Amino acid sequence: MKIAILSDVHEGLNRKKTGADIWGLLKEWLATHKPDVFITSGDITSGPVKSLALLNRLKNELPEIQILYVHGNHDLYHEDATAAYETLLKFAGNLGNGPVQLDEDWVVVGDGGWYDYSFGIDEFTKKQFSAGQYNNFTWPDKIHAHWPEADGDVTRNYLSKLEKWLAEQQGKNIILVCHFVPFAHFVQVKNAPSWDFFNAMMGSKGFGELAEKYGVKKVIFGHIHTRYHEEYKGIDCICNPLGYYPHEWKNDSAEEEINSAINVIEI
Ligand SMILES: [Fe+2]
Ligand SMILES: [Fe+2]
Repeated sequence: MKIAILSDVHEGLNRKKTGADIWGLLKEWLATHKPDVFITSGDITSGPVKSLALLNRLKNELPEIQILYVHGNHDLYHEDATAAYETLLKFAGNLGNGPVQLDEDWVVVGDGGWYDYSFGIDEFTKKQFSAGQYNNFTWPDKIHAHWPEADGDVTRNYLSKLEKWLAEQQGKNIILVCHFVPFAHFVQVKNAPSWDFFNAMMGSKGFGELAEKYGVKKVIFGHIHTRYHEEYKGIDCICNPLGYYPHEWKNDSAEEEINSAINVIEI
């Protein structure tokens, strides 16, 4: 079984900056290469209605490919993040609806998740992370995503939901999918507070702890716009974002960048 993986497509921003039909190019790639499954782990575009429309469009155009999705922070940009989360669950392939069995052996468990400052550096307080401001920069989620609870509580809710599903799926080969980073190993520390402050918003070590505790075979995530595919703690870890044009791309052409970015694994 072939699984194609790409996160952080940021369709709106990349389309505006490149002038290319980003989602159409992605569809073309999928139509040509025909993977059995496509997993996209968050940040399709800004806002739940647009992200849902893009997912539905892809599913309608490619009914033979199983499309699995978890939300990113950008997909939740809306006056009410809980309502945005619910909107995105209308996509049947949203893993927030529950685990998806791929075959007799393999199951995919996931949800978007959030962050709890566990990758934050020590010299700042929880209160500072919660405000999300360093110098003159405000973390965009603080402006565009609105949860009724504190970040740590939001993350805890995701962790308990995922733990329940992971416990139920024991005995199978599990692929865990979330948007946010599960291990500090994948978070870049630059020893510059203007960067490292915002590492608090990169993810939660809780996701990694669950992956280890429940012996998952693969973890797929996104959010950091750096591509990784490596074994870490015995887990095949894949972070495969498209990222932002131009500074995070290797090619000038959107077609080339999308075609070279998509990672295909076989199980
Ligand atoms: Fe992103
Ligand atoms: Fe993100």
